Amino acid sequence: MTSITTMQPKGQVFPPPTAFQSQALIQSVAAYEALWNYAKDNPEAFWGGQATSLLTWDMPWGVVRTGTGMQSQWFTGGYLNASVNCLDRHLETQGDKLALIAEGEPGEVWRLTYRDLHREVCKLANGLRSLGLQQGDVVAIYMPMVPELVIAVLACARLGLMHSVIFAGFSAEAIRSRNADAQAKLIITADGLYRRGAVIPLKETVDHSLEGASSVEHVLVYQRTGASVSMHPGRDLWWHDLMAMQSETCAPVSVPAEHPLFLLYTSGSTGTPKGIVHTTAGYLLGTALSHRYIFDLKPTDRYWCTADAGWITGHSYVIYGPLCNGTTVVMYEGAPNFPDWARFWKIIETHGVTQFYTAPTAIRSLMQQGDAWPEKHDLSSLRLLGTVGEPINPKAWMWFHEKIGKTRCPIVDTWWQTETGAIMIAPLPGAISTKPGCATRPFFGIVPDVVDHHGVPVGENQGGLLVVRQPWPSMLRTIHGDHDRFLSQYCQVVPGDVYFTGDGARRDADGDYWILGRVDDVLNVAGHRLSTMEIESALVSHPTVAEAAVVGKPDEVRGEAICCFVTLKATEHAGGELKKQLQFHVVAQIGALARPQEIRFVQALPKTRSGKIMRRLLRDLAADRPIAGDVSTLEDLATLDTIRAASTEDDT
Ligand code: WT7
Repeated sequence: MTSITTMQPKGQVFPPPTAFQSQALIQSVAAYEALWNYAKDNPEAFWGGQATSLLTWDMPWGVVRTGTGMQSQWFTGGYLNASVNCLDRHLETQGDKLALIAEGEPGEVWRLTYRDLHREVCKLANGLRSLGLQQGDVVAIYMPMVPELVIAVLACARLGLMHSVIFAGFSAEAIRSRNADAQAKLIITADGLYRRGAVIPLKETVDHSLEGASSVEHVLVYQRTGASVSMHPGRDLWWHDLMAMQSETCAPVSVPAEHPLFLLYTSGSTGTPKGIVHTTAGYLLGTALSHRYIFDLKPTDRYWCTADAGWITGHSYVIYGPLCNGTTVVMYEGAPNFPDWARFWKIIETHGVTQFYTAPTAIRSLMQQGDAWPEKHDLSSLRLLGTVGEPINPKAWMWFHEKIGKTRCPIVDTWWQTETGAIMIAPLPGAISTKPGCATRPFFGIVPDVVDHHGVPVGENQGGLLVVRQPWPSMLRTIHGDHDRFLSQYCQVVPGDVYFTGDGARRDADGDYWILGRVDDVLNVAGHRLSTMEIESALVSHPTVAEAAVVGKPDEVRGEAICCFVTLKATEHAGGELKKQLQFHVVAQIGALARPQEIRFVQALPKTRSGKIMRRLLRDLAADRPIAGDVSTLEDLATLDTIRAASTEDDT
């Protein structure tokens, strides 16, 4: 594929609302462009200046950037601590300001000032030290969205331990493989979490993940629900027992700028998740700076990002960016529809939320429930809305704009990735006009481009591959334990020393970027990133399955749904019972987020003469579209008809 065919809807343009613009940090396109151009032409002066003004250093750096291109290091010689930047430095000026307002699903509210959060982080850090953990060790975190999750993350950062947060929806098998790759020594978890009124066990899942050999020496258990759990003597300990013994102060470990801050596993185009490595200074700088400008931060804001801390959005825009900026962060443990579909709107009203940052899939499901839910609540505290995770369709954008933002709140559609650490493309809300479904302009210091497979820029409104031409401080440094995979997947796909994103995009006549979705075998299901290969490996590990091919199928609420084409070793097993078993099997291997929506048993998969599965054809079949394009490389044309026949059987 050298270019992507794109549709160019003539959409509406929404300039920044006047009242918003006049109070914004950046108030005009000219001001944005002046700073963007300055950063592009003088990246070191720009990033160096920002690092001085936004971060607190124990020792200043010598050089802003060393190394070459996409393998750069930033702020070499500098020392700092991420928890000091998020906590200690706010104590003198705003120790009594709320850092966290957190709601549990059953309705309890926890309020922690910066002083409270600092104290709890110090206590836990002392506890972790008492367990023998040392700088560079890896701590896995498998927790509900409660303040203790933030405390755990920052306690790791205080000691220079790398955290590896694993989303609480992943299975025991997924925890096991991540911990094995990371060689985690400790896992911090809870007895369970609340979801739609039920208790979901967490400790039990962790126990399963530890059966057999494991690098994990201890399990620290926070008591969230009171559900009974079994404690393994010598290995497991209670959070409250450990915390009860600790002093309220803890000297932070000053780490080099490039010290790894965390690992976060994400799916790529192969069967194994990759441990994305982010470092301390560059990551903190990227998240703090982007958070400040893109959310147009004010000291009195009450900012709410609905993402779970198990994903990069939670790391960057629930924890590090906002706390580094001294913001009051709202967080919520549970489901959007518990006890009913008004929960989000009620939280906004109760806590006076000013910025609301969420995912298109959530907006679409909230929209489906009708306008009566938001109409019940006073949403007048809101001044800005944000979206992340996938392209937002214009219909959902308009609903968000009208029914939630009441047309007075700009919407920032933010494009970025686990790998980029921070937002890369998004409208600066006081300066850039928004267009429904468009991420608009690159952030300061970010230089994207749209190119073909040879690295040659494509023309205006031509679809192509989205790349980034200059390194930026918050980019991933490597894939844990596999630097070659880092080089081959990000740096060597497109010629020239550019970063390849895996997304397609086009740039319009205004210079605005439209994201067209992944061009690799990565699915985006309800904003969650899943690899087709990972699901295929899960399927073929079932004794009845011979071969499997997984593709995305358009889905109105979830964006994409998982559709599996499966051939069996013995066809007599085919049937509804086996479909259920296979769904269960995939959930056990990966987690509930990977549950296939559809399983189709077929006689054979369409393959090229060289044996490659033709996913393009399967995508068309899954979407019930006519097969588009060339099928001349298909080995056996009859396969298509039998698959089509099987699909029809399926639907009836
Ligand atoms: C992929 C990254 C970092 C945010 C959470 C997801 C897609 C993300 C947008 C957007 C269109 C988007 C891309 C990207 N994506 N934001 N605003 N518009 N697509 O992080 O799991 O690393 O996934 O999400 O395809 O490559 P992630």
